[in-house]
Amino acid sequence: MYLKMHLLSRQAYRGLFFSQGSIAPCLRRGRSLIRSSLCRNISFSCQRCTVMTSWIIDRYGRNDVLRFTNNMIFPIIHFPNEVIIKVHAASLNPIDVNMRNGYGAAALNMKRDPLKLKSAGSEFPLTLGRDVSGVIMECGLNVSYFKPGDEVWAAIPPWKQGTISEFVVASGNEVSHKPKSLSHIEAASLPYVGLTAWSALNQIGGLNQDNCSGKRILIFGASGGVGTFAIQLMKAWGGHVTAVCSQDASSLVKKLGADDVIDYKSGDVAEQLKRLPLFDFILDNVGGSTEKWSPDFLKKWSGATYVTLVTPFLLNMDRLGVADGMLQTGLTIGSKAVKHLCKGIHYRWAFFTPSGRSLDEIAELVDSGKIHPVIEQVFSFSEVPKAFLKLEEGRARGKTVINVINKI
Ligand SMILES: NC(=O)c1ccc[n+]([C@@H]2O[C@H](COP(=O)([O-])OP(=O)(O)OC[C@H]3O[C@@H](n4cnc5c(N)ncnc54)[C@H](OP(=O)(O)O)[C@@H]3O)[C@@H](O)[C@H]2O)c1
Repeated sequence: MYLKMHLLSRQAYRGLFFSQGSIAPCLRRGRSLIRSSLCRNISFSCQRCTVMTSWIIDRYGRNDVLRFTNNMIFPIIHFPNEVIIKVHAASLNPIDVNMRNGYGAAALNMKRDPLKLKSAGSEFPLTLGRDVSGVIMECGLNVSYFKPGDEVWAAIPPWKQGTISEFVVASGNEVSHKPKSLSHIEAASLPYVGLTAWSALNQIGGLNQDNCSGKRILIFGASGGVGTFAIQLMKAWGGHVTAVCSQDASSLVKKLGADDVIDYKSGDVAEQLKRLPLFDFILDNVGGSTEKWSPDFLKKWSGATYVTLVTPFLLNMDRLGVADGMLQTGLTIGSKAVKHLCKGIHYRWAFFTPSGRSLDEIAELVDSGKIHPVIEQVFSFSEVPKAFLKLEEGRARGKTVINVINKI
């Protein structure tokens, strides 16, 4: 045993002893693979255990940096709480286009495995894509909530390898059982935007199914991925929703439950909002000048809250370095929070927060018919660059999904 362990690389050792399921008996030594008899007898295609197909980037830049490879090293379980998921579908979010361009690299590198960064000399090759719906192939030894074969969904944090790939590794606590009523394509459209909206409205904003009834909620950027989810969540919890979007998205947001719709392109939004009662809550998915004037439409001194998803957090670290960037971020959020508090309102930033537990709650809302996926377009795995271009054009009406299991 001692000799065996000595021969195996550290990775191979971890892969063997931290995992249970179909791939565990495959001991990796660098890129080569020793297959056990169990492995040869199972249905999973172990011929492809060493490498897999993925879309990767080897540098930051425009869309031509996206590269298809069928030679990406197969992911391995490094910690006993991890699972390997066979990806059936993934979806894209603005962060994928931004990360392709290099956004957030300083902060994200800080969270990446320092050993891997050191041995590779950089964070590349990087796989983008945060959302996954797929099937558990392999579980770490401490994973008891899932077993191989379970259909799951998850949003993988941006410092980890992404989901535009045949397989992806996730921590068990980032994963949840997929809603039974959804196909993989439908399920892949929800985790990242759902968890972001959940973080903004529930964890940061304090809204929940018991206190939302009758509350007036204003949502900017209502027609995009986060907006279409947020409308439905607020309606499920009994809120009154005013959605701000382009005129051509008006029927979509009404169908999702919006009570009032404001077309931001047909005149001054502030003028249109003056005709409505004040709000208890604003979710800002747009940022920029909206942040300056919209908090004036909140009820003062009543606990009303403005939450924005558009923050300079990662940008500050890219521009100023990690230490100065964090300092600048702290000063900015602190001064804005105090300024708004003096006016009688709460000012907050919200971020995507990976959470299998929150996804469990979202799955219940989905299976009870209260939240529906809003999919604008589905691309096949071979069309990933086209999907990025689509996202980059903006004007999203829901989500852009990648059918990963269909390679054509
Ligand atoms: N902080 C975080 O962790 C976090 C997480 C997720 C997302 N985000 C950010 O949140 C924002 C929304 O994300 P998403 O996934 O929903 O993006 P998305 O799917 O691209 O949707 C953005 C939507 O906003 C609409 N829009 C643009 N300008 C507008 C305006 N002035 N007023 C009203 N609507 C406007 C767009 O349609 P039209 O242009 O046709 O109107 C589009 O439907 C993005 O900036 C994203 O980067 C942050």
